[in-house]
Amino acid sequence: MTYQLRELASPDDWEAMHRIRLETLFTQERHPGLVYDRAHPDDTEPAHRKFLLMLDGVPIGTTRLDPRDEGGILRLVAIVPGLQRQGHGSVLEALLIDYARARGMKRLWLNAAPEAVGFYEKLGWTPQVWDEEEFVSFARDCVQMTKPI
Ligand SMILES: CC(C)(COP(=O)(O)OP(=O)(O)OC[C@H]1O[C@@H](n2cnc3c(N)ncnc32)[C@H](O)[C@@H]1OP(=O)(O)O)[C@@H](O)C(=O)NCCC(=O)NCCS
Repeated sequence: MTYQLRELASPDDWEAMHRIRLETLFTQERHPGLVYDRAHPDDTEPAHRKFLLMLDGVPIGTTRLDPRDEGGILRLVAIVPGLQRQGHGSVLEALLIDYARARGMKRLWLNAAPEAVGFYEKLGWTPQVWDEEEFVSFARDCVQMTKPI
C-alpha cells in the first residue's frame, strides 16, 4: 500500500475533494438543508492548502490546512465512508504533520465533530478552546482541540 498526501493540482483533484466531503462531511444527515458551495472563499483562498490522501493512486481522503500564528488550523478531515476505521485517517494526520513541520509550523488546531473526538484523542490531541468566535458559526457543536508538533 502506497500513501501520498498531495496538494490539489487539477480540476479532477478539486472534484475528488468535493466528492469525498459531500459523502462524508456535508451529508444531509449531518447538515440538513445545507447547499454545498464548490467555490467557497475559504477554499479558493490560496494560503489555505487543500489535500487529497491517495492510496495506490486513488483519492480516499481529504483535508485542508489554514496557516495561523505559529501553526495551522486543520479543517474538513475526511476518509471515504467504506474505508474508515482501517488506519487511513491516522496516516493522513501523520503525513499532514510532516507537511506542517517542514514549513516550520509548531502547533495545529481543529474543531472536532463530537463523534470524532475519540479519534483525535488517540492521536494525542487535547481539548483547548482556541477561538470562541468559531463556535457561533459552523463549529457550534464541535470540540476545539490542539496538538504541538
Ligand atoms: C474521523 C476519521 C477522519 C478517522 O479516520 P479513520 O481512518 O476512520 O481512523 P483510523 O482508522 O486511523 O483510527 C485511528 C484510531 O482512532 C479510532 N477511531 C477512529 N474513528 C473514531 C471515532 N469516530 N471515535 C473514536 N475512535 C475512533 C480507531 O478505532 C483507531 O484506534 P486504534 O488505533 O485503537 O485501532 C474518519 O473516520 C472520518 O472521516 N469520519 C467521518 C468524518 C469526520 O467525522 N471527520 C472529522 C471531522 S472533525
